[in-house]
Amino acid sequence: MSTQNEINRRRTFAIISHPDAGKTTLTEKLLLFGGAIQTAGAVKSNKITKTAASDFMEIERQRGISVATSVMVFEYNGKQVNLLDTPGHKDFAEDTYRTLTAVDSVILVIDSSKGVEEQTKRLMEVCRMRDTPVIVFINKMDLEGRDPFDLLDELEETLNIKVQPLSWPISKGYSFKGVYKLYDKQLHLFESSKTKIADEVVSIDDLNDPMLDQLVGEYASQLREDVDLIENVYDPFSEQAYLEGKLAPVFFGSAMNNFGVKELLDKFVEIAPVPQSRDTTLREIKPEEAKFSGFIFKIHANIDPRHRDRIAFLRVCSGRFERNKFYHHVRLEKDFKYPNPATFLAQAKSTIDEAYPGDVIGLYDTGNFKIGDTLTEGEKFMFKGIPSFSPEIFKELINKDPMKTKQLDKGIRQLTEEGVAQLFLQEPGSRKIVGTVGELQFEVIRYRLENEYGAKCEFESKVFYKACWITTDTPAKLDEFKRIKGNNMVKDKEENDVFLAPSKFILDMEQANYPELQFHFTSEF
Ligand code: G4P
Repeated sequence: MSTQNEINRRRTFAIISHPDAGKTTLTEKLLLFGGAIQTAGAVKSNKITKTAASDFMEIERQRGISVATSVMVFEYNGKQVNLLDTPGHKDFAEDTYRTLTAVDSVILVIDSSKGVEEQTKRLMEVCRMRDTPVIVFINKMDLEGRDPFDLLDELEETLNIKVQPLSWPISKGYSFKGVYKLYDKQLHLFESSKTKIADEVVSIDDLNDPMLDQLVGEYASQLREDVDLIENVYDPFSEQAYLEGKLAPVFFGSAMNNFGVKELLDKFVEIAPVPQSRDTTLREIKPEEAKFSGFIFKIHANIDPRHRDRIAFLRVCSGRFERNKFYHHVRLEKDFKYPNPATFLAQAKSTIDEAYPGDVIGLYDTGNFKIGDTLTEGEKFMFKGIPSFSPEIFKELINKDPMKTKQLDKGIRQLTEEGVAQLFLQEPGSRKIVGTVGELQFEVIRYRLENEYGAKCEFESKVFYKACWITTDTPAKLDEFKRIKGNNMVKDKEENDVFLAPSKFILDMEQANYPELQFHFTSEF
């Protein structure tokens, strides 16, 4: 098959949701439809429940499970679907943000009784930064959820995107009857079942057909009214607007009952974008270019501390990746080859000989990669769009064993390169401020520094509101700001100037006082 055909076949996406909305359940059902797994229950939840430090191994074990499900590949309707997993726990949200840089579209799962939740908003903000196309799945229709029109309004208002239902629920909760597929005028009748894949589908060309009354009884008139309203409010669905990230089609269903999942998947493979072009420091890279290129968006440490090797996950962006061929590591200006690139099925991992744009492969790494690294066939560019976001919790790393300073320095550098946390250095004195989105990472860092690097540390809380990356065209003003704000000025891993704002009030004030400086909330500007 030609490279172009391989590209056209691929659909690379992630499922995102607030914890508990049903991401794991939906993932599993998609894999069942794709034939990648045979039985329900095969995909373990990668949810990490809040545990005490003593349960640390449990966290690691659970993180280990998530390696196996990092990339799930299956065939469906002639397409190769690459589903990238994202961590369920909010403390690992930064991992999710980065994974979103490696996909071409997302499916957002909403719990019909909860609507838009905190994490939904954050994840969507990241998608909106890159205009990633989004399909919404409103899950748990078998429960007494909220009114579907209310949910649509809330999605539009809070997520800053237009939405359009492509299916419509007939009642909900105990009386949930099924969904009406607006695009092909079919009625899909619900039957509660966790195992069955096929349900009854009835074509109904005219909603006034008395057959509708026979099928859904008293809910027929409500459906007629709702559909009438929808058809008056919405224009025909625009695939173009979806692909531009301006319009999100919405499906209703119940992942647990396998309901509405097939419609979602059918439509997904039909409309979801093929692997897209990507921006680099030099030029835009198109997937169909002959030469291979790709970037690292995630690094996973081996959970067995006796084996230091890590798996770096690379998204192929152009050309064809081949096993055992030398590729150029742009940051290190060195060439490396990869004898055992891995691809992942639901649980098994296997070595591959080649990969195409849209694919994600695991490369064994002994410490050469950090997040954002680019591999090419020699050209010197770096992929853009893999920013760090401002952490939410900041702590100073205190060395508890001066004899192990080197180990501590090396350990914290490697862990932050893996993306466990962000490291900011303060000069002079090299104070180390570690920033994360959740408390759990501090436990992870403390444990891993001790067990993998033999270094002991302690964390001292620092109250900062946000990290802001600062740029300017007036270097003298930045120098002045750094002099005055010395205590709050740090450098990130790329030596960028970062201001750790103590409060929103002070940040607003400094922004007003220093109009010559630009304050950015992500590391890419
Ligand atoms: P997450 O990955 O987004 O965190 O959610 P997950 O799939 O683990 O689902 C969270 C809970 O919601 C699970 O229940 C799951 O069974 C349930 N759930 C998922 N889809 C549906 C649905 O369509 N209807 C209903 N009623 N429930 C649904 P749990 O009690 O936490 O776990 P379990 O014991 O059922 O596995």
